[in-house]
Amino acid sequence: MDKEPLHELQRRQAAVEEMGGPARIARQHSLGKMTARERVAALLDAGTFEEIGAHVRHRSRAFGMDQAEIPADAVVTGAGRIDGRLVYVFSQDFTSSGGSLGEMHAQKIVRLQDLALKTGAPIIGLNDSGGARIQEGVDALSGYGEIFKRNTWSSGVIPQITVIMGPSAGGAVYSPALTDLIVMVEHTGQMFITGPQVIKTVTGENVTGEQIGGAAAQIGKSGVAHMSAGSDGEALQLVRKILGYLPNNNRELPPVMDSGDPLDRAEASLNQAVPVDSNKPYDVKKVIETTVDRQSFLEVQRGYAENMVVGFARIGGHAVGVAANQPRILAGTMDINASDKLARFVRLCDSFNIPLITFVDTPGYLPGTSQEFGGIIRHGAKVLYAYAEATVPKVTVILRKAYGGAYLAMCSRSLGADWVFAWPTAEIAVMGPEGAANIIFKDAISAAEDPAAMRRAKADEYREEFANPYVAAARGFVDSVIEPSQTRAHIAQALMALANKRDDRPHKRHGNIPL
Ligand code: HXC
Repeated sequence: MDKEPLHELQRRQAAVEEMGGPARIARQHSLGKMTARERVAALLDAGTFEEIGAHVRHRSRAFGMDQAEIPADAVVTGAGRIDGRLVYVFSQDFTSSGGSLGEMHAQKIVRLQDLALKTGAPIIGLNDSGGARIQEGVDALSGYGEIFKRNTWSSGVIPQITVIMGPSAGGAVYSPALTDLIVMVEHTGQMFITGPQVIKTVTGENVTGEQIGGAAAQIGKSGVAHMSAGSDGEALQLVRKILGYLPNNNRELPPVMDSGDPLDRAEASLNQAVPVDSNKPYDVKKVIETTVDRQSFLEVQRGYAENMVVGFARIGGHAVGVAANQPRILAGTMDINASDKLARFVRLCDSFNIPLITFVDTPGYLPGTSQEFGGIIRHGAKVLYAYAEATVPKVTVILRKAYGGAYLAMCSRSLGADWVFAWPTAEIAVMGPEGAANIIFKDAISAAEDPAAMRRAKADEYREEFANPYVAAARGFVDSVIEPSQTRAHIAQALMALANKRDDRPHKRHGNIPL
């Protein structure tokens, strides 16, 4: 082969690999950030990256852009492997033009989205960008539109995971928001629609980028992001871990990863997990962690709406989605944020063939004007919709309180649970005994010499009658009342019995979930 063409190729390759040059790379490192190429290497199995479009160049001319060299147009794109499984990845290069997204940058991402969808492989976006390339105007905006459209087409077909590893501002946040899970790097990742300067001008508020859009805000306050990590390296390892619970696409099952934890492992501590006094809190995460395969619980949206716990886990090596009311926070009541969190997680699991395990201990919906005016009816309805729509195996375990609408919402038999277990401590009723006594025994209580004593007596009467699992079991709403220590074995048996579940819904264009 003639030496000249080869030399030209090597020269061009070296220029692309240099990205924005040593000074900008040094600045990137000084901020604790890896470069776009280092991130791809850290994410994928060693030596598996096959790059696409390294020689792509922008074609913009205005504002001196005809002289601007932007290697690979500021985004590294290609295919690779994670634990041997095919994935597509794009990684925005902040050292080149601030990772800004122009026409050709967008086309590279679009090409990757098309390939990922056609081949049924997850797509992972590593975001670090100043947003739409200002010099490219409407071409840049249009590029975002093409990406959003494909995010939507891919939703529910292939897993889409975003890592926010730098700025993500303006409409650029909407591609991440359309993906399944957002991981943020603490202190360097920031997402906002309008940044501090615009906020100051319009509302007069003084906030920093970190306050308005850092991981703490977008996980703890807004619920936009799902997980965070302390560094780029940790975030990328977390993505590898998350993928271990997801299939490559909606026609496949998640990978099986046997932990060696025996399916019939009894857990004596669970017999005392629920306090005798039914108003006392306890930590439902302990129930989850002792039931699923050891060390397999990966919580999603920790720090947001903590009265609801959701996350991935495994039982017998098979991925499951776990949802549970958390009696330690707001007594485990359902509110707007908890409903949104739960409904979205249920739909994520259902999209990707992940069976659902629901642990119930909720006294009902959180009362109050802020909840009603905030639309708890609409948000709560999302949970009903998501569970009723889901066709994956659904196993419910009622630990203690399961009252009223919240009983129904937490994957009750009537909403479509395939298997319902209850602990002997379960209380399944229209409402709590005290509230019930106040209403149905109102006259007797007000006529009594000692109304408080009468209220207690009537509440006990109601508790005796309904606050147990046996009335519901007698009607078949509960399939079996189990000893808590045996929960893992019972769930495992139910999942095995449901493994070949087939469940279809009537054909429709799409449903109309209350958004
Ligand atoms: C072109 C950009 C750019 C952009 C940054 N750069 N953002 N170039 N278009 N959007 C360039 C800078 O000119 C600079 O080039 C280099 O990237 C690094 O930027 P710095 O400002 O030096 O870095 P830093 O101080 O770390 O600040 C980063 C930043 C800031 C916070 C992201 O650059 C910034 O505020 N950029 C603009 C953000 C923004 O408003 N984007 C538009 C959002 S609206 P040199 O050559 O000097 O190194 C949007 C609409 C999308 O995205 C709509 C979709 C529907």
